[in-house]
Amino acid sequence: MIGQRIGIYRIEEQVAQGGTATVYRALQEGGGAELAFKLVERARPDYAEQRARLRHEASLSLRANHPGIVRTYSSGEIEEGCYAVQEFLHGRPLHRILRERTSPGQGLPVAEALAIAADLAEAVAHLHGLEIVHADLKPPNVMLCGTRPVICDLGLAVLEGEVRPHGALMGSPSYMAPEIAAHAPIRRPADVWALGVILFEMLAGARPFGLRGDGPHEILKAVREAPLPKAWLKDWPAEVRASIERLLERNPLARPRAAAVAAEWRAWVRAGG
Ligand SMILES: Nc1ncnc2c1ncn2[C@@H]1O[C@H](COP(=O)(O)OP(=O)(O)O)[C@@H](O)[C@H]1O
Ligand SMILES: [Mg+2]
Repeated sequence: MIGQRIGIYRIEEQVAQGGTATVYRALQEGGGAELAFKLVERARPDYAEQRARLRHEASLSLRANHPGIVRTYSSGEIEEGCYAVQEFLHGRPLHRILRERTSPGQGLPVAEALAIAADLAEAVAHLHGLEIVHADLKPPNVMLCGTRPVICDLGLAVLEGEVRPHGALMGSPSYMAPEIAAHAPIRRPADVWALGVILFEMLAGARPFGLRGDGPHEILKAVREAPLPKAWLKDWPAEVRASIERLLERNPLARPRAAAVAAEWRAWVRAGG
């Protein structure tokens, strides 16, 4: 792929390999604007399904218009597979940053974690205003560009209330809301749950449900049944602790909306904690 011209784009280098897509940095000929070229290879055994998903992702993300959501400009199909052209995010995925800077019991500073979480919640609120549920919020799908998080990978996003074909469970068990694990239709509170898990992980340096080495079944069992590990919470400011507990309510109706969460966390950050 490297050096190849696709329409007006020239592929420069591979920057990442996700679960389904390979992401390249590309340059637009003439103007030289940098773009991300996300390719799903035709050789995949599940190509038809992944192609449909990439198209769905492109159509949903074209509607979004927010600095915290990756912009998609176009999509199409070439000999090698199908692709989406997106804004190029100069940043690093959040999970790598967490891997480097945190360990169990040693998270990011509270103010830094809350600032990232507030931006994320705002971006999620924007999607929710469009009735889009991201449904796969997790650190590998967040790029931290300087201090600004940008949500990428709308590959599993759905319109509010959609049910997955064949009732398949998709997404990462560690960030999956209990109602989704129980095969309920996918609704906005599932993203609010994932925000709670992500903030917990940033603060604790560990995820709230499932132990290292657990398989998906054990993690999903913990998500559905295990109490929130309160030992981690005790060192955090009381409002932050209470907020995480509300986001990680097992009853989706008891969780706050993303917009309210964003406002609360933003106010907390502005007040200096
Ligand atoms: N627009 C982008 N600019 C730069 N890097 C990106 C962009 N989109 C995704 N990436 C990187 O590529 C990885 C895989 O992309 P993603 O959209 O998550 O694909 P997958 O569906 O395979 O998970 C991400 O974790 C991120 O590191
Ligand atoms: Mg991804």
